[in-house]
Amino acid sequence: MHDFCFTIPYGLILIGGGIVGYVKKGSITSLAGGGVAGLLLILAGYLSLKAFKKRKNSYFALLLETVCAAVLTWVMGQQYLQTSKIMPAGIVAGISIPIFILLVKRRRLSQRLPPGSLGVPIIGQSIGLLRSMKANTAEEWLLKRIRKYGPISKLTLFGKPTVFIHGQAANKFVFTTDSSTISNSQPKSLRAILGDRCILELSGEDHKRVRNALMSFLKPESLKEYVGKIDEEVRQHLEMHWHGKQQVTVLPLMKTLTFNIISSLLFGVERGIGRDRLVGDFQEMIEGIWSIPINLPFTRYNRSLKASARVQKQLKDLIQKKRVELEQKSASPHQDLITCLLSIHNNENEEVVTEREIMHNVMLVMVAGHDTSSVLITFLIRLFANYPAIHAAVLQEQEEIAKSKSAGEFLTWEDLAKMKYTWKVAMETLRFFPPVFGGFRTAIKDIDYGGYLIPRGWQIFWVTSMTHMDDSIFPEPSKFDPSRFENPTSIPPYCFVPFGGGPRICPGYDFAKIETLVAIHYLVTRFNWKLLCSDNFFSRDPTPVPTKGLPIQLSSRFQQGSYASAS
Ligand code: HEM
Repeated sequence: MHDFCFTIPYGLILIGGGIVGYVKKGSITSLAGGGVAGLLLILAGYLSLKAFKKRKNSYFALLLETVCAAVLTWVMGQQYLQTSKIMPAGIVAGISIPIFILLVKRRRLSQRLPPGSLGVPIIGQSIGLLRSMKANTAEEWLLKRIRKYGPISKLTLFGKPTVFIHGQAANKFVFTTDSSTISNSQPKSLRAILGDRCILELSGEDHKRVRNALMSFLKPESLKEYVGKIDEEVRQHLEMHWHGKQQVTVLPLMKTLTFNIISSLLFGVERGIGRDRLVGDFQEMIEGIWSIPINLPFTRYNRSLKASARVQKQLKDLIQKKRVELEQKSASPHQDLITCLLSIHNNENEEVVTEREIMHNVMLVMVAGHDTSSVLITFLIRLFANYPAIHAAVLQEQEEIAKSKSAGEFLTWEDLAKMKYTWKVAMETLRFFPPVFGGFRTAIKDIDYGGYLIPRGWQIFWVTSMTHMDDSIFPEPSKFDPSRFENPTSIPPYCFVPFGGGPRICPGYDFAKIETLVAIHYLVTRFNWKLLCSDNFFSRDPTPVPTKGLPIQLSSRFQQGSYASAS
């Protein structure tokens, strides 16, 4: 604002000078010169103000202003006052006034910013955070910041200035503040790889429209119909990859399982070369989602961008194929997520979700869905090996259900409702090892938070485990205790947040619950296992990865004569 306040009177003086020149000397050139000079200066001030409001670099406007002010003051001095003495004064005023204003502006801004350093531009603290995530010391890394700078601090992550906030109030702020104040735009790497029309990037009405469309497939009433299909995928998977094996590595297999479930249920892509190609490209694409957005041939980001282009090409062909099948009525709207999205029309009979939105959201659902549930199931398997009493209680619950089924009968929605203890164990596992480390929002306007300014355009960074491991919320947080979830209302709101919260709470909650319970049912009733790597370590990449992907030694319970479930 100050720039504009300065340039308006300064510009008006120049215009006035032109008018004086015209009146005194009758010179039309004076009038034109003064007018153009004044208007140029006002324009420069306006540009500077706009750049400042958008928090963009205002150096260009500042330079323009300085040059205009200096040169024009000199020209005017020469022309109207017939003296060259005005020249040095003009240059000094022209240069020093805008610089002074800029410094004052910067100083005011920085006084209100949270403490902390922004570090090297673009890179900032990204490498430090990513390294600590790999070493599984990210929580300590953040606690160190909190000790040094307090509960709110600034840093640069993945190319953008960022404010890190944490705790119950911070979670509530992130999850419930309306989309005209904070939006959900993601780090540049994620946006470039998953696409700008994925639901994470949308806000307001657009977000609601696409989210409602996704929910029409992911809501429990629809998913009930698919429990049998998920059951079939789990059994096929165990038959192919687990039965008859003495040793398996859990995490990659769970990723294969969840990928296959999503491929079949959400995309209607059957097993075969097409699915295998897609899985390879997806894995490569995911690796760069949280990376420094430097697009050079050797960077992770570059490899992921290329993989993303290959995935998009395959999805485009798939959507085209499904559109034709729907037109020819050889596919039904409820067949899978893609046919469901293609079939939603508004009152004017137009498709509600565009093809580009379908493509970007299908990629997001695959990433959001398969990398998260696979981690949950993997950590449950590790946990059962470490806590025999919990394993025994889960087994008892699952065997009760298995006994009520005839050979080959699929699990049903009603069976899943009986797996209450198993789900409590899963919730406690999510408290300990949340698959999603945290997330980002972007300030749409300047926000006053906790006595500090979060400037427009900056990222806001929240971290899941900060409340999960807070002993004032979860007493003895390092104790694994599923009974915490016996009475969900005893947990304060916005404190248990593995699925986020508010209007953006994970829409895949029920899908994740179904696949986890079905997988655990068959795993515990069919197999016993021992850990081959018992260090209990994991690194984050960005989802948790146990050492060597969790190799286990496997034995079939069926062979030991105690297996009582459907085959
Ligand atoms: C254990 C499994 C899962 C966990 C822990 C999890 C966690 C999360 C979290 C923390 C968010 C971000 C919420 C926010 O930013 O406020 C999220 C969003 C999302 N998740 Fe999940 N998720 C899981 C499974 C799934 C599955 C299976 C699907 C799909 C089938 C899915 C689809 C999505 C989508 C589309 C979003 C974006 C929602 C929006 O922006 O409105 N997730 N999830």
